[in-house]
Amino acid sequence: MELFYRITLHELIADILTLIDERELSSKNALERVFKRVSGRDREKARGLAHAYVFEIEKWRKKIDFMVNSVLKGSKIEDLDLYLANLIRIGVFEMKFKGVNPAIATDSVVRVVKERYDQSKARFVNALLREVEGFNLEKALKKLKEKDRIEYLSVKFSHPRWYVEYAIELLGYGGAVRLMLSNNRAQRYYVRVNPLKTDIDSLADYLEEHNVRVARTLVDDVLKILEYETPITRLEWYKQGHFVIQDLASAYVAHVLSPEKDERILDLAAAPGSKTFHVAHLMENTGEIIAVDYSMERLNKMREKMKALGVTNVKLVHADGMKFKDKEEFDRIILDAPCSSSGTYRQFPEVKWRFDERKIQRVIQVQKAMLRNAYRNLKAGGDMTYSTCSIRIDENEENVRYAINKVGFELVDYPFSWGEKGFTEIGDKVFRAWTHLHDCNSFFIAKLRKE
Ligand SMILES: C[S@@+](CC[C@H](N)C(=O)[O-])C[C@H]1O[C@@H](n2cnc3c(N)ncnc32)[C@H](O)[C@@H]1O
Repeated sequence: MELFYRITLHELIADILTLIDERELSSKNALERVFKRVSGRDREKARGLAHAYVFEIEKWRKKIDFMVNSVLKGSKIEDLDLYLANLIRIGVFEMKFKGVNPAIATDSVVRVVKERYDQSKARFVNALLREVEGFNLEKALKKLKEKDRIEYLSVKFSHPRWYVEYAIELLGYGGAVRLMLSNNRAQRYYVRVNPLKTDIDSLADYLEEHNVRVARTLVDDVLKILEYETPITRLEWYKQGHFVIQDLASAYVAHVLSPEKDERILDLAAAPGSKTFHVAHLMENTGEIIAVDYSMERLNKMREKMKALGVTNVKLVHADGMKFKDKEEFDRIILDAPCSSSGTYRQFPEVKWRFDERKIQRVIQVQKAMLRNAYRNLKAGGDMTYSTCSIRIDENEENVRYAINKVGFELVDYPFSWGEKGFTEIGDKVFRAWTHLHDCNSFFIAKLRKE
């Protein structure tokens, strides 16, 4: 027996938003899961629309919640049932950001609430959305600015409060504002050539022939996508693994590591594999790379990708990077540590709402344990890269100082060919990229050596 029931786009979007929060999934992953259940003629169109809604709602969530909380007076959107809260967010987003007629936006949400909950909840949401409709955001923001400037910036740019404070401390007021503005701009894509299948000139020609305008970058094997007609993931060369989509700063790590042919390399936090594959490509499939990750799901994705990219020298290991110890030591190690992801807000706006101070302190403990374990696995004279996509000093420079002072590493004075200096007394010897300065994720790299 095959049964169908109708589900509205609003319900699908609320499902995705709820999954992102409950399971801590990326929006892409949550979208994939929800759309597994969807079929029909308009599936692809609905998917594109749902993706755009989810991305923008996650980006503007703090501003949306500010409006809702201002009219709720007393209680908060965070206290509501999560699915209901997400339906409300969709309604507010439509009327205040997308320019949908407020009566239509309210009606589509209220109809879902009536069906999924009851009449009284529907009345509550109806009244709430009508109040939001009349809410004067500009006036409220002006008032907030006089009362609490940090909270004002946090709402205006829709960034976590801690991030606003942190960015001002690091970059000054102007720098922090420029960073947040650029975090809210459209994502920039970069592609890295797979040298096992083609070269950078042929890739540039191929992309131009397919109406993708590209530019060279400061990283030799990476092109910047300037304009495209059809998404690059639909191109045959993408499907055949001639190139990968990889952020500019992320693609700098393998060059800083500078692996040589036939070496043994360890990647302690490898999935989904961008840096592992890059190192494999630079080594032309010689030697051996042990790629460790503790997420089986992510390792499985990596296995699929590996085939398409023609990578044959990588062994995947499902293990804890804080404890994994191989029989033999390694020539080089990549430690691209799990982090607060605070450098990736433009690419993954959902991570803005995932990390509070307690969680960040926990991840710093994991980073330190991984640094200690990297030392145990590295040969004397061996090099490693420590990198994160975090903007924070405690996840970056302070961890490097810990690696030097408490673990035994030396900091290599690597001649970085682009990027900014870091902070603290080791700032001159480490690399930082910033979204507002380099048009990529904010990123950190240090090169360490075991003497
Ligand atoms: C920043 S991502 C790595 C990205 C990857 N290096 C790349 O370039 O595609 C961090 C990874 O660390 C993994 N991870 C988190 N804690 C871990 C642990 N204790 N041991 C091993 N992997 C861990 C996560 O599953 C995630 O895949």
